[in-house]
This record gives sequence, C-alpha cells and structure tokens, in this order.
Amino acid sequence: MAELLYTGKVKQMWSTDDPEVLRVVYTDQATAGNGEKKDNFKDKAYLNNEISSLIFQYLEKNGVKTHFIKKLSDTEELVKKCDMFPLEVVTRNIAAGHFSSRYGLGEGRKFDTPVEELFYKSDDLDDPIMNESDAIALKIATAEEQKEIWRLSRQVNRLLIELFDGAGMDLVDFKLEFGKLANGEIVLADEFSPDNCRLWDKKTKAHMDKDVYRRDIGDLTSVYEQVLARIEKTLKEN
Ligand code: C5P
Repeated sequence: MAELLYTGKVKQMWSTDDPEVLRVVYTDQATAGNGEKKDNFKDKAYLNNEISSLIFQYLEKNGVKTHFIKKLSDTEELVKKCDMFPLEVVTRNIAAGHFSSRYGLGEGRKFDTPVEELFYKSDDLDDPIMNESDAIALKIATAEEQKEIWRLSRQVNRLLIELFDGAGMDLVDFKLEFGKLANGEIVLADEFSPDNCRLWDKKTKAHMDKDVYRRDIGDLTSVYEQVLARIEKTLKEN
C-alpha cells in the first residue's frame, strides 16, 4: 500500500512498491513568503510537472545525474529515493530578489561570475543563509559533498542558460536541491520550474516566473503556459 511520506507546500511524496522509488504528486497550490501567501491556480500542477520533467530530461541527456525516472501522469512523476541535503542551493546570474534587497541594489545588474549562495532548509528558521563552514560544522554536507554539489550546480547553470536563451528568456537566478542515492551518488532532486527560478523575457524584460504571483503583477497560469510552450518549441528545434 502506498503511503504518504511527506507533504510540502506544493508537492506530496508517496511510497511505491519499490523501496528505492517514490511518486511525486504536484498540487495546484502556489505559496510565497514561506507560506504566508497561499492560493490555488488552475493547471499549475500539470504545468510544473510538465516543465520540470522536460528540464530534468534535458539535463539527464546532457550528462547531469538527477533523481528523475519518468512522468507518470499529468500531475505525477516517479523519482529515485534520495537522502536529501537540507540545503537550498541558489545561483544568480543577474541581481534580483533578495540579493538586490540585501545589498541595496536595483534589479538587473549582470554578474561577470555567477553568485553562489547556500541556505539551510528550515521552515521554522525561515531558511537562513549559511556558508560552507556552517554546513560542515552542522554536519549537513562534507567539503567534498559541497564540491560535488557546486560542480553539478555550475553544469546545470551552463545548460539552462543556453536552453532558456534559445527560448528568448534570461535565466536570472534559481534554487536547486540535492540528494544522495543509496549508492552514495549525489544527484539533482526536487523540481525545476518557474516556482524556483527567475526568468525574464529577453526583449521586454517581463517576469515569467513566480514573481508575477509574489508581486501581484500578472497571471501565474498564463505565464507558466508561455514558459512551457517556449521550452517545448526550443527542445523540438534542437
Ligand atoms: O528570494 P531570492 O532572491 O533569494 O530567490 C533566489 C531564487 O531562488 C529565486 O529564483 C527563487 O524563486 C528561488 N527560491 C526558491 N525557494 C526558496 C527561496 C528562493 O525556489 N525558498
């Protein structure tokens, strides 16, 4: 019997007959400000599942190891069971969001070298920022594990900058999560969707991500539909 293992803000994790495989169920919910703002959007589960599946398959095809196995239905996917690092791994190519507010900058400055930040994943503590020595002291990840996490993050950044560029969008920043498989291999886990990245239209600079919801500046469903359509077109052409 499948058992509900975990309910997150926008996803559920279920066990399957195979102890090494989990079923992810996306929901239509969007949250912002660590769950302070919460709303449901038609088709959001389908759109996140579809976008994330396409991106994980693209990354796998280009040599990035991930937890992804396959899409199961419009709103479900199968993934490999991982022991998750309680880390949010953020990469920024352009100043925006909390980077801009933290340093009193406007949004839009392009960095020569991407900014790399770590956060401790804890709803109770509001995901505090941490550095690598914090993570080692707290036994969250060894120096070697962090090296591998950043190697994978840089590979993802290079591949996704290219993918989104082809789809007419700048990849401003994004958050990744990593886990360890039973054999010790570190893999990209969680999801990649406009919920956890910032995408700006290259020409108009329009926001094409969850900022439309966080900032009340557009319709989440129609923006995510556009992102999906552009990615599908770009992947088909290549
Ligand atoms: O809020 P901030 O500017 O630090 O976010 C940087 C990037 O990380 C954004 O793309 C945001 O969507 C993502 N993020 C996330 N989950 C969090 C915090 C940030 O997906 N808990």
